[in-house]
Amino acid sequence: MVETGGYSTIVGYVSGGGAHVLTRSSTVLVTGAGGQLADAIVRAFAGWHIVAHARATMDITDSASVRRVVGEEAPDVIVNCAAFNDVDGAEDRPAEAFAVNAFALRSLARAADATGAALVHYGTDFVFDGAASVPYDESAPPSPRSAYAASKLVGEWFALEAARGYVLRVESLFGMPVAWKGRRGTLEKIVEGLEADRDVTVFTDRTVSPSYVEDVAAATRYLVERGGEPGLYHCVNSGSGTWHDVAADTARLLGVTPRLTPTTTDQVTLRASRPRFCALSNEKLRAAGFSMPTWQDAVRRWLATRRPSGAARSGLADKA
Ligand SMILES: NC(=O)c1ccc[n+]([C@@H]2O[C@H](COP(=O)([O-])OP(=O)(O)OC[C@H]3O[C@@H](n4cnc5c(N)ncnc54)[C@H](OP(=O)(O)O)[C@@H]3O)[C@@H](O)[C@H]2O)c1
Repeated sequence: MVETGGYSTIVGYVSGGGAHVLTRSSTVLVTGAGGQLADAIVRAFAGWHIVAHARATMDITDSASVRRVVGEEAPDVIVNCAAFNDVDGAEDRPAEAFAVNAFALRSLARAADATGAALVHYGTDFVFDGAASVPYDESAPPSPRSAYAASKLVGEWFALEAARGYVLRVESLFGMPVAWKGRRGTLEKIVEGLEADRDVTVFTDRTVSPSYVEDVAAATRYLVERGGEPGLYHCVNSGSGTWHDVAADTARLLGVTPRLTPTTTDQVTLRASRPRFCALSNEKLRAAGFSMPTWQDAVRRWLATRRPSGAARSGLADKA
């Protein structure tokens, strides 16, 4: 278990109405602690009793360990942030990807049901083939094109077998502090390049709906706190753009003149296929009562937290 002062305090929080009202003693079990989304989840649930496990103390592919930890902690909510996220590596190690991203969800769903816990799991836009031209909603048929994508899709199916299973599809996560030592996403790498005045190569034919970890964590808390209808939700920031659009807008917010080198997917050889068009509609989440801010607003808020002094220079501070 990750023992930190902030993680395991129990202080008062009583939720509003809903099918499953959570009380001051509600326990949230977070798996995959140490990952970027887990970090935001722990912050978002501050005030609840949080038990956060990294792989060393809870390997989600070890079903006995899952049963034991869930049995001991008796959580009200399990938030699974553990994942095999090496999209290209999954082509060479599909069994590993399926163990973590798919079959572990069967164990977690069973353990959640055994204790009456809600289970929150995160899916990906990569379950789609990218052939669409309008944002995908939750009813769009998945068509995974890589081992990673297939493993994530099977994981969704297992997670949704839990009586109170929530699957939130996220995409192009971003939002870590400057000093973050873990895995960095595409937007983090773009910002580093822009800040260092380097050439930044960006796709002009990959359309994304980036997801700010703070907003994803807030949406997660909203759904479980309010007893939102279990099921599948697209949980991305509102709107979409090509990576070139995202980089250009980010440069504007940083107040720098970008050196962007446009590229296209057919100019770059990657081990695993990536969908080109990945805009997702978050309308179902909005109808459930949680509106995701636009990605531009999310990037602005993130940059303001990341570079407070730079933000003031570039005018970020007064817009954040
Ligand atoms: N990042 C994105 O852009 C993106 C896009 C779409 C969907 N998602 C989904 O969003 C969720 C959160 O992603 P993230 O970016 O926060 O992930 P992340 O930063 O890569 O963190 C994943 C964590 O899972 C841990 N882990 C791996 N195998 C494990 C196992 N068998 N048991 C327990 N822990 C294990 C990793 O630990 P080690 O360091 O020890 O490996 C790591 O700390 C995942 O479901 C991911 O698939 C992410």
